Amino acid sequence: MCGIVGYIGKNNTKQILLDGLKELEYRGYDSAGIAVLQNGKFSSYKAIGKLVNLKEKTSDFITEGFAVGIGHTRWATHGKPTELNAHPHIGESSYVVHNGIIENYAKLKKELMSSGVSFLSQTDTEVIVHQFEKNIKSSTNAFEAFSKTIKELDGAYAILLTTISEPDTIFFAKHGSPMLFGRNKDGEKYFASSDTPLMGQASEVNYFEDGDYGYVNESEIFIFDKNKNKKDAIYKKISQNKLSAQKDGYRFFMEKEIYEQSSVISDTLMGRLNDEEIVFDELDENFFEGINEIKLCACGTSYHSALSASYLFERYAKIRTSVEIASEFRYREPMMQKDTLFIVISQSGETADTLETLKMAKKAGLRTLVICNVDNSSMVRLADATILTRAGIEKGVASTKAFATQVTIFWMMSLYIARIKNTLASKEIARQISLLREVPASVKVSDEMHEKLKRLSKRYLHGHGFFFIGRDIFFPLALEGALKLKEISYLHAEGYPSGEMKHGPIALADPELFTIALLPEHLHYEKSKSNVEELSARDATICAISSKEFDKADDFIAISKCKDYMLEFFEMMVVVQILSLEISIRLGNDVDMPRNLAKSVTVE
Ligand code: F6R
Repeated sequence: MCGIVGYIGKNNTKQILLDGLKELEYRGYDSAGIAVLQNGKFSSYKAIGKLVNLKEKTSDFITEGFAVGIGHTRWATHGKPTELNAHPHIGESSYVVHNGIIENYAKLKKELMSSGVSFLSQTDTEVIVHQFEKNIKSSTNAFEAFSKTIKELDGAYAILLTTISEPDTIFFAKHGSPMLFGRNKDGEKYFASSDTPLMGQASEVNYFEDGDYGYVNESEIFIFDKNKNKKDAIYKKISQNKLSAQKDGYRFFMEKEIYEQSSVISDTLMGRLNDEEIVFDELDENFFEGINEIKLCACGTSYHSALSASYLFERYAKIRTSVEIASEFRYREPMMQKDTLFIVISQSGETADTLETLKMAKKAGLRTLVICNVDNSSMVRLADATILTRAGIEKGVASTKAFATQVTIFWMMSLYIARIKNTLASKEIARQISLLREVPASVKVSDEMHEKLKRLSKRYLHGHGFFFIGRDIFFPLALEGALKLKEISYLHAEGYPSGEMKHGPIALADPELFTIALLPEHLHYEKSKSNVEELSARDATICAISSKEFDKADDFIAISKCKDYMLEFFEMMVVVQILSLEISIRLGNDVDMPRNLAKSVTVE
């Protein structure tokens, strides 16, 4: 998704903007650009593809002394990924960058064109800068024109605008897309779509609320809320530790993040396990009082972790649980009952569809909870309560450690509710808590396992598709395995319940159909095994993952003997992640930034 940076100060503005955009690469993009206003003159550069192209284009461009700059990585929504469509967009004497979608852009563009304005790009963003320049003609100053412009926009946006008549100023507005402001003791000012570009630069940051707009110049910041009331910035310290955001010698962030799962799950568990109960300091003691049902809502990988939760919640906490895909839920006029707890799950806390369902639930008067990895994100700020997954920055577009920590939280939460509702014996809760303590060890990647998967991957680079199959909670894991593979290998893969194959998909079975079979020893083993045998009998190629030898498999990946199916779940999760990673590497793909994908999907 698009990323924005801005800078006002005396340092090397070009480099600060390029470094900031680099930190936003993980959000996904197809072009990038910067505009710098220095000594009363604008310089702007754009390039399609990776940032290295923009770096090359700007190699002769030098910024020294005071300057104002804005930069952008674009993930195409309106118009192809071309240089003309890349941001910043120019008016007569102003530049704008924007993240989000201007829904009424067609109408505004028509009006502007009929009054003689010509457009260079196919984007929705370009209307902002022309509308601003139209308004400036009837305004007493640039800020008045900017305020008028913001009021005329429908949709979601984070906007930065600079104009020649105010050469030390950046105008900003935020509504539905993330943006924060940072400053340091040297008087430098920064804007960005997320914390990462500001780490090591700003010492404190202000997170804008939806509806905030205003301007920042060399000496001050003016923020107004959606009702035009002036408000003060609320500064928070920003972490300066960038180490965790580097690759640490791994080939890809995704690989590093798979290997990190053990330590981040330890962090997720930290302080939350007593011998006999789960502790969530974040939740009020009465948080579950009056709750008779749980509705989970999310997208993508987070949706898969929500599906896993539904098995655990019903099995252990005996509470009615349903799971919804956010983009569907938003528009299907759903029934919402006040005794339902609405839980949204999101790594980023910014996914537009999920955020919208949270707003709907709040409006309907439901109690809300977010399971999220990013503190201060839009969802965290909106929900009644938050449980942070503590996975650390996830940079690989294909989510791994976020999923692992989400499922860990859900397992804990099922036991937490089970104790409140008295649906599990204390001895069983204590047993499961001791199992939870074993999760960090169960997701450790052994060299032997990684080597085996690397070797095996060369046999799975072709064929007419993959089926990942599993039963019960291993079905969401199958869905997640298939999603991982298709995202980064671009091979077709589906997740399916093992028992459902015979109702249609088995017609596809032949040696070129690859079945990745999840066969946990401790959950419906015999049933799952016979489903796999049905496929094997029809000559499908079977790659079985289990702790029990399986002679019908063409390939067999042995996990260790575990005490419980949930530990098997975590071990198999690592296997499917690494298998996807190695297949993608062999195919020569960009594992961390797969084509057409964005890390944080802040448009619907
Ligand atoms: C898959 C992936 C996506 C996200 C989805 C939701 O690897 O990363 O499917 O899970 O876009 O994102 P969040 O969790 O940030 O709401």
